[in-house]
Amino acid sequence: MKIYTAKVYHTNTKTSSITNKPHHSAKTQTQTFAKLHFINLILKQIAKRGCQIVNFLLQYVKFESSSRQTFHVKPLARTATKTIPTPLEAPLTKRTHQIKVISYEGSSYRTDFWEGQGREFENRTERKAIRRLLPKTGDVIIEIGAGFGRLADLYQDYDQIILLDYSLSLLMEAQKTFGADPKYKFIAANVYNLPLANNLVDTAVMIRVAHHLESPDDALDEIHRILRSNGVFIMEFANKRNAKAIARYLLQKQKWSPFTPEPYEFVPLNFDFHPKWMRQALARHNFRTEKELSISNFRLNILKKHISPETLARIDNAIAGPGALLKLSPSILTKNIAVKPKAEATGMFICPKCKGTDLEFQEDAVICSHCGESWPIISGIVDFRYPRPETIEAHEKH
Ligand SMILES: C[S@@+](CC[C@H](N)C(=O)[O-])C[C@H]1O[C@@H](n2cnc3c(N)ncnc32)[C@H](O)[C@@H]1O
Repeated sequence: MKIYTAKVYHTNTKTSSITNKPHHSAKTQTQTFAKLHFINLILKQIAKRGCQIVNFLLQYVKFESSSRQTFHVKPLARTATKTIPTPLEAPLTKRTHQIKVISYEGSSYRTDFWEGQGREFENRTERKAIRRLLPKTGDVIIEIGAGFGRLADLYQDYDQIILLDYSLSLLMEAQKTFGADPKYKFIAANVYNLPLANNLVDTAVMIRVAHHLESPDDALDEIHRILRSNGVFIMEFANKRNAKAIARYLLQKQKWSPFTPEPYEFVPLNFDFHPKWMRQALARHNFRTEKELSISNFRLNILKKHISPETLARIDNAIAGPGALLKLSPSILTKNIAVKPKAEATGMFICPKCKGTDLEFQEDAVICSHCGESWPIISGIVDFRYPRPETIEAHEKH
């Protein structure tokens, strides 16, 4: 705001010094004054807009060039209406019991959001981008938050495919489609407490889930634990600093700044993330980001109406790589490598409550010999959800 004040002061000073010159007639003085008044108004507008842009750029540069300590910078005046603790401020111990989980139980996500809802472009561009990043084969792949299995056919060249979700009802839908193939396993569980052994999986995929995570740090910690050394983690997240949000902010149609680092919770348990924030969170959990794609650039009805989803998705994928330099799209896909020492997995499952490895599989439940917890098996799906759905503070999906 300092720049703005200085410019206006300068303009006013100039005006008064000229109009006070003695050889000007009254008419010319009035004309000159009117012209200067007009110029003054324009300059004020330019100064106002320019000042806003400079301010935003300064905030942005400050964040881009700073170290991890940036997270301690207090949010500026025009930030998200609600912020969550940034990872460096969060306690180091797990906060499992406080972490809320969104509830998709019983939801008609498939028909409400995808089928017949005009999102064929989004579906196609995501699938193309995932194919580009996904290692083609491997022993074990897991999709975390797999929902009804929209993407599950992409993993067919893996020996074992784990579809995991907190929603038992969505998993049952996935089971109807893929259950006949013994390679597919369905597990109800919470990403914050995965019931899987350390170093078990070659590849983990998480698409359209990060935006529901109140504590991405706790999730990344768990995902890193189950990945083997140099295992691949493909994650999509919703980009806070996208072109639409920037335009809306600069035109003063939106109050929150897309440039500040902290996640923005636009409705309960729905977060947009700043790309730098997410990259640093990944790095903190020993993930090396190898590739980024900036996708879904054409979520515009006018384009969708006139261009086929396949053509749009192809163009979108063609620009997704170079676009990652600026990251102005609403969705970012990242390929990350788990940096950790080589170690063998012992067994497949662990108790999500006590992390005990001694589990007894009975006909209708899995019993942990260590803590005694009994995990029910419902329609062939082990319900490893911890904390239990009835005890956790869940939010219904909107
Ligand atoms: C928007 S849907 C995306 C489903 C699927 N990935 C897709 O793109 O079609 C989000 C999914 O994440 C799951 N989810 C949300 N929070 C979770 C958590 N804490 N643990 C496991 N799954 C979770 C939801 O149950 C839901 O199925």
